[in-house]
Amino acid sequence: MSLPYAATLDTISSLVPDPKLHKPRLGIVCGSGLSTLVSSLKHVVVIPYSKLEGFAESTVPGQKSSLAFGYMGKDNYPVVAMLGRFHPYEGYKPSEVTYGIRVMKRLGVKDVIITNAAGSLTRNIPIGTIVVVQDHLALPNLTGMSPTFGPLTSPEYLRFLPLGDAYSPRLRRFAFLASHDLQFPDEALTEGVYAWVSGPAYETPAEGRFLRNAGAHVVGMSTIPEVVAAREEKLEVMVLSLVTNQVIIPDTYRSIKAEVEAELAGQPIDQQEIGTVSHEEVLAVGKLKREVMRSLVERIIELVSSE
Ligand code: HPA
Repeated sequence: MSLPYAATLDTISSLVPDPKLHKPRLGIVCGSGLSTLVSSLKHVVVIPYSKLEGFAESTVPGQKSSLAFGYMGKDNYPVVAMLGRFHPYEGYKPSEVTYGIRVMKRLGVKDVIITNAAGSLTRNIPIGTIVVVQDHLALPNLTGMSPTFGPLTSPEYLRFLPLGDAYSPRLRRFAFLASHDLQFPDEALTEGVYAWVSGPAYETPAEGRFLRNAGAHVVGMSTIPEVVAAREEKLEVMVLSLVTNQVIIPDTYRSIKAEVEAELAGQPIDQQEIGTVSHEEVLAVGKLKREVMRSLVERIIELVSSE
């Protein structure tokens, strides 16, 4: 299967007048509700995915479906940002989900910062926290849904890709230095393991408990195909997960058996409502915290561009 890189790159050169902007050094992927990062870009040129060969159209509310080119940081550091991404749960193939990352590599990108919204699997990581991902747990990758599954599509790619070093210590260090520079409270940023699930249904309590017991701290339905493709392309990667909700993992289950027995004994038990997660909640927290995420990414890019 051949991908239309040449056509995509031609379209980009024809629509982005400034030649320095054709060669971005850093790429950003903006998740749900986080596309306002574009307002940090100077001399911005926005190209809708519909004009770019090989790009699909994001079907998820809250995603903008465009590629933005512009400058950030010191000495006009050229940056490209995907405003909206593609997920396997929308019906896209792994090759479509990762196309933007592979185009970034061919434009000259070295570092990628991927943002997403995620659910917290532990009370120690409250809503609003930004998790700098240190490792991932990807059940789909272990069962044949990895973007590297199948024939090798380039002689440049490794057949057996190592992922033990997927999350760049260099970039993660910049995240914590940026948080310090911005005087964020200590609890604003933490580190953790991201579990990738294919979704799109949110986790059941048993699934949430399973992921937590397996060592994950947050869970989401995106990002990991892009991380794997970025590592295959030899890019340095950092992932920032904004915690938008708690995954509900009750300590005990409501027992209908106990309720019926109590009712029959004339002593009905009061039941507490168990909450549920919604995409609206995820977007609302994204909206509330997007300035925090925007200023953090902006400062990280200042640090990268000053290296
Ligand atoms: N589960 C999976 N994906 C998510 C969640 C969640 O709770 N929140 C945001 N993305």
